[in-house]
Amino acid sequence: MKKVLITGCNGQLGRSLNTLLKDTDVEIVNTDVDTLNICDYAQVDAVIGKERPDTIINCAAHTAVDKCETDKENARLINAVGPENLAKAAEKYGAQIVQVSTDYVFSGDGDRPYVETDEVSPKSVYGETKLDGERAVMAATDRYFIVRTAWLYGDGNNFVKTMLRLADERDEITVVSDQYGTPTSSLELARMILYIIEKGEYGVYHGTCEGMTSWYEFAKEIMRQAGKGVKVSPVTTAQYTATVAERPMYSVLENKKLNSMGDYRMKEWKEALTEYMNDFGFADR
Ligand SMILES: NC(=O)c1ccc[n+]([C@@H]2O[C@H](COP(=O)([O-])OP(=O)(O)OC[C@H]3O[C@@H](n4cnc5c(N)ncnc54)[C@H](OP(=O)(O)O)[C@@H]3O)[C@@H](O)[C@H]2O)c1
Repeated sequence: MKKVLITGCNGQLGRSLNTLLKDTDVEIVNTDVDTLNICDYAQVDAVIGKERPDTIINCAAHTAVDKCETDKENARLINAVGPENLAKAAEKYGAQIVQVSTDYVFSGDGDRPYVETDEVSPKSVYGETKLDGERAVMAATDRYFIVRTAWLYGDGNNFVKTMLRLADERDEITVVSDQYGTPTSSLELARMILYIIEKGEYGVYHGTCEGMTSWYEFAKEIMRQAGKGVKVSPVTTAQYTATVAERPMYSVLENKKLNSMGDYRMKEWKEALTEYMNDFGFADR
């Protein structure tokens, strides 16, 4: 990989990719909505045609899951039409594309980790539009890496930061205890993406940290690592009414394709959290 074009470069994953690539000999073209609106095909064609990257990493998305329910047209444009535009331009100009997707393409009704080939059945607008994005990329080019990740946190708004803020504002926090998945740092996801690009094997991947937990246990671990004494109490999804979009109850992903390729493993989720808490100065020292 000599030249990489990153869309949505100011998001969590975009920033982590920059952290990893900044001292390498890879040339980075950073773009975000102000310089490359992925929904606008004419602009996508012009920028990709001018820059001629080897690899496009699409980090742009409409990630506000609840907002997508009421902002369907924008969700469709950003999560489905945008990836399609990028994949068409990739095909036209000879680039390969990394499209990042989500565990929300699955229903979450199962009770064992999902592998890449399992049946998809999204329950939310966010999940539906991200799935449409996957399909549009696959239809436009064969040179794709589709990477489904989950419960992402990095340099941006995320669950870890929300929990730390609430810990300073409240005496008690209630957190959903019957939804299961795997917290994944954007740095670990970025490392995984660079690894699979290096390997050069196209296809659909799951890319989450190892292990699994509930949001409640995740919150408790954040408080433990941050040294916060706030009381964390479990609540069931049925009791909790604060979200609009339906979330998968069980969306643990198995990195089957990645783990079959060699010795590379993504970090255990608690270990990745420790790295993040240290990097961002949140850890209790
Ligand atoms: N966050 C999660 O928990 C999670 C879970 C599973 C999968 N994922 C997937 O992982 C990927 C990275 O997520 P993230 O958390 O890093 O996202 P993020 O922090 O929300 O960043 C997304 C970036 O895309 C930009 N953007 C929005 N619309 C755009 C457009 N039309 N053209 C160009 N850029 C646009 C955003 O700009 P503005 O901020 O100005 O809108 C933002 O800089 C996404 O594909 C997401 O669907 C995320």
